[in-house]
Amino acid sequence: MSKFDLIVIGGGPGGYVAAIRAAQLGLKVACVEGRVALGGTCLNVGCIPSKALLASSAKYAELSHLAAHGIGVEGASLDIGAMMGRKNKIVGDLIKGIAFLFKKNEVALIEGWARIPAAGQVQVGEDLYEADNILIATGSEATPLPGIEFDEADILSSTGALALEEVPAHLVVIGAGVIGLELGQVWARLGAKVTVIEYLDRILPGIDGEVAKLAQRALSKRGLKFQLGRALKSVDKTETGLTLSVDRVGKDKEEVIEADKVLIAVGRRPVTRGLGLEELGVAVNGRGFIEVDDTFQTSIPGIYAIGDCVPGPMLAHKAEEDGVACVEMLAGQASHVDYNTVPGVVYTDPEVASVGATEEALKDAGTDYTVGKFAFMANSRARATGDTDGAVKVLAGPDGALLGAHICGAHGGDLIAELALAMTKGATVSEIAATCHAHPAMGEAVKEACLDALGRAIHA
Ligand code: NAI
Repeated sequence: MSKFDLIVIGGGPGGYVAAIRAAQLGLKVACVEGRVALGGTCLNVGCIPSKALLASSAKYAELSHLAAHGIGVEGASLDIGAMMGRKNKIVGDLIKGIAFLFKKNEVALIEGWARIPAAGQVQVGEDLYEADNILIATGSEATPLPGIEFDEADILSSTGALALEEVPAHLVVIGAGVIGLELGQVWARLGAKVTVIEYLDRILPGIDGEVAKLAQRALSKRGLKFQLGRALKSVDKTETGLTLSVDRVGKDKEEVIEADKVLIAVGRRPVTRGLGLEELGVAVNGRGFIEVDDTFQTSIPGIYAIGDCVPGPMLAHKAEEDGVACVEMLAGQASHVDYNTVPGVVYTDPEVASVGATEEALKDAGTDYTVGKFAFMANSRARATGDTDGAVKVLAGPDGALLGAHICGAHGGDLIAELALAMTKGATVSEIAATCHAHPAMGEAVKEACLDALGRAIHA
């Protein structure tokens, strides 16, 4: 029986990064992965393929907007097969990259689905392995709606929506969250009519309400049709496509929508089945997430858990931070994750990026704050590139400390890094405002929003 210091279950961004970091720290490490490929949901059927398709579809959509630049395009065509081929190659190359990193760092890869028969033991098929520590990094999966099964042909989760072979005439997206908006925009840009059905009376719950409104306006301008305050009740397959029955929330009213495909993106749930957690007595909360302490240890000593299968934001970069902190502590180092400064990005056009508290959260907590805002319309670089939708919004405490920052705008996902760093290092809005920002650049909007919080914006 092989013995390891640490066996990581799951080769996604949380698991594989933890395995590599643990090996760097001198631990004898194995990583068990049941999917044929490393990289987890993020690399195989999540973050990376969606960004590849967002990039391809953005280029296609741009062709019809070049006239304003004095450029005429004739004979543009769309080859979905080639687009998917490019996406698959990007994913395949990155998977090979992780396998290379495992070899380089001497992380043993065990292929198969793992079970934990007892603390200190991991079973994969017929083989039993021993480990001083076990780290569960098994991630999450799309949550289905009751009575509606994913078939990935017509009733899609994100996995199916990343692999369509042709552009649907009408795609209905259920859920105006991150996945619904990103994949809805991919297919809208490629020519589908896209209707987004959302239960709440707003899009992107969890994002600052004002910034979410800016995003809704910009996405509507780019072709997404939003129907808020509605819930999907049933989907019937007909000879011509799908018939969706939708309830108006709080009203005794039902609507019928005809569609070719439906993407259900109403959240994700932890994947822990088959691990044997119940038999072991590992505590999970009411929603199936594994309970962990500050060191990521579960209720059973020697068994740890990180990433999407524990409570907290379901984000690849948060899972990576969890994994690194967990194994550094296992190796005797001091480490922790500051969950207040984990940024989130929605990769639509415009991007929606945020870090820290929303204005709603500050209000609810009774915290004293000042708002600083700057619209991209007044930013000269945005005017030059035509990316004038959206704004930067910062929230500062009475001492000027940055409590939260929210951006709707082109490159928002990159601009948020400055604000996440500022929050992590305790920089104030005065300090950000006093930092020289290149001109002309989108980042000047960050500086101007901070100046606005001080009542000193120049260009507003
Ligand atoms: P989400 O939680 O972001 O959004 C789900 C939406 O569905 C919510 O707006 C919710 O109100 C709505 N909803 C729920 N039930 C409904 C119903 N019956 N009818 C209509 N609407 C309903 O979930 P999503 O988009 O599935 O994403 C799952 C996770 O994956 C998120 O935690 C997200 O952070 C992560 N993710 C992150 C990405 C990124 O960082 N760029 C990209 C993709 C996913």
